[in-house]
Amino acid sequence: MCNTAITMSQTASKENTGFDEWFVTAINGGFLMLMISIGHRTGLFDVLSEMDWTESKELAQKAGLNERYVREWLGAMATGGVVEVDESDHYRLPPEHAQFLTRNGEENLAAFAQYISMMGNVEDDILECFYKGGGVPYEKYPRFHQVMAEDSGMTVLDALKDDILPLVPGLSAKLEEGIKVLDVGCGRGKALIKMAELYPKSKFHGLDLSEEAIGWAKDEAADRNLGNVDFEIHDASDFDQTAEPKAFDFVTTFDAVHDQANPLAVLKGINQTLKPGGVYLMQDIHSTGHVHTNMDHPLGPMLYTISCMHCMSVSLAQGGDGLGAMWGREKAKELLSEAGFENIEIRRLDHDVQNDYYVMKK
Ligand SMILES: C[S@@+](CC[C@H](N)C(=O)[O-])C[C@H]1O[C@@H](n2cnc3c(N)ncnc32)[C@H](O)[C@@H]1O
Repeated sequence: MCNTAITMSQTASKENTGFDEWFVTAINGGFLMLMISIGHRTGLFDVLSEMDWTESKELAQKAGLNERYVREWLGAMATGGVVEVDESDHYRLPPEHAQFLTRNGEENLAAFAQYISMMGNVEDDILECFYKGGGVPYEKYPRFHQVMAEDSGMTVLDALKDDILPLVPGLSAKLEEGIKVLDVGCGRGKALIKMAELYPKSKFHGLDLSEEAIGWAKDEAADRNLGNVDFEIHDASDFDQTAEPKAFDFVTTFDAVHDQANPLAVLKGINQTLKPGGVYLMQDIHSTGHVHTNMDHPLGPMLYTISCMHCMSVSLAQGGDGLGAMWGREKAKELLSEAGFENIEIRRLDHDVQNDYYVMKK
């Protein structure tokens, strides 16, 4: 998530003086996010951003939605300060809000609101885990791969060419010439597809546990007539045993190590599959690994919650380590070293407050 979002979240939580006031702000924010998710999914923000002051009837008609529901949604949006309302109940989405809530805007923060409802969907399953342990499997999150792809579409895709790949000196030139690239835990494969388009002489391979995500990635690559990228359904839990030795020049993982069943096996496999001189780029959650030193983390509550209700739990459901999203730099460096990586460089990028970027040359 971008830095703009962080400024907004800090304002919401820290300007209040009393806990009761803080609670009212927080609970209103929580409910508002459910409605923002609906505004995103229905396209209401997109439609509203193209209209001048309007009534619920006209908006519902344009969006192809039920007026009674749209009217109630507008009530939440207006009292929550997202849209403006006048004395005759006409509404307007100010352009300075539209730029963060629409698909054509500068950055569509509304897409992140979908995580709230996704987590709400599994509350009963997570509750059971609080009593019995274990985890909640990926199948219980039917929209996960779609939302994740929208998320990384914003944090990874736009920054890939100019910010992320240049973290590895000389890499762009090698990609232009033609090298072999692997993305582990590629999800819907958007990062690889983008790289395959940018660098037609290189060959790209993606693997992921999810049939749904890999199916989507294959269809997308076919639709774009890309012959230099392929995808494979592969459980990386024993990647230390299955990884082809010295096969790739460059390996990436985007937010895909901490929620693995066996992160160490994945990292060992990556080390094994890199050619000598090859590079591994790992994007993973920025965290110190300790709650008391994460107190100033601008996304702390969000990330610990997503961890508890998804990242940690999906790993535990596979009988895995359940590292959790907030595993932190110390643990990451420990596992990377154990997997055989020696020079571990940790970088930050201005556009991405949520992640650290680890660069390891073999
Ligand atoms: C947080 S998502 C990141 C997806 C993608 N890299 C992105 O940035 O959009 C983590 C990914 O790891 C995959 N994954 C989890 N456990 C796995 C396993 N045992 N083997 C292979 N992939 C796994 C999930 O299916 C999911 O697509």
